[in-house]
Amino acid sequence: MPTPDNATIIEGQRQDWNRVAGGWEKWDRLFEEQMAFVNHRLVADARLHTGLNVLDLGSGTGYPALLGAQVVGPAGSVVGMDLAEQMLAAAERKAKRLGLNNISFRTGDVTSLPFEPNSFDAITSRFCLMFLPEIPKAASEIARVLKPGSWVAAAVWSAPDKNPSIGLSMAAIKQVIELPPPDPTAPGIFRLAKPGELAGLFQQAGLVDVTDQDFLADWTYGSADEYYTSLIEIAAPVQNLMAKLTDAQKQDVKQRILQAASNYTRGGRIVFPMAIRIVAARKPV
Ligand SMILES: C[S@@+](CC[C@H](N)C(=O)[O-])C[C@H]1O[C@@H](n2cnc3c(N)ncnc32)[C@H](O)[C@@H]1O
Repeated sequence: MPTPDNATIIEGQRQDWNRVAGGWEKWDRLFEEQMAFVNHRLVADARLHTGLNVLDLGSGTGYPALLGAQVVGPAGSVVGMDLAEQMLAAAERKAKRLGLNNISFRTGDVTSLPFEPNSFDAITSRFCLMFLPEIPKAASEIARVLKPGSWVAAAVWSAPDKNPSIGLSMAAIKQVIELPPPDPTAPGIFRLAKPGELAGLFQQAGLVDVTDQDFLADWTYGSADEYYTSLIEIAAPVQNLMAKLTDAQKQDVKQRILQAASNYTRGGRIVFPMAIRIVAARKPV
């Protein structure tokens, strides 16, 4: 199969994430509760404080942009960028509910930022950079628009074996249909999982004082059924694979996923370990 060009990959991402935007809004509470530590860590690593002007890349439904806006306060501002206008529409609704007037959202590709050099006091990004076809270009753009001395902090998924809640659905699909071996250089959930990978790209872009850390946590669901339903409704890459299946195969995959998830039962709930890589770096003065 020919490799799609970068514009096709980006348009595919836009359509994929727009398609699952309703699911993200529906399951927002689950994210808010369980992923709050990632937002707080990013805000800390990007050194946010009152009055800063911040850019959040791939904001989706507003993480961590909304927390950023609360931290920088009315004297500061946050711009949240994303390809998917429907994800951003959900983020806008949340900002309104929170009464935040210092945050704006704009659609666009984070590999070509529509900003002047040295525009931002800090940059954050959660679970976006691994989906880009040209990550080095995004790293250069980050370095270009950051002000000298300012910080970027980005979260990506760590290794698949440390994140079984993602891996087991892929494994179940592979038991039912043959999938080509994943291309480790193609955009995808685990593209930046390896230690040093994103850190190295930040260094190549001229950033310094780079830190690269794995954070371990639990990801808890009320039941295997809740896990399955939320996964199917929010995980665009999993949805794409499920779309290749017949109805009978979908049922088969569902049973396999429910069975595999039940192996993680603890105290009547489904508790998966998870690991998230957070990489931070500073633009030299
Ligand atoms: C897994 S979601 C994460 C959203 C949010 N940051 C969060 O953590 O909840 C990935 C987001 O990255 C966005 N994205 C993917 N490629 C992008 C690109 N090239 N430019 C801008 N956004 C992109 C998608 O549209 C999607 O909203």
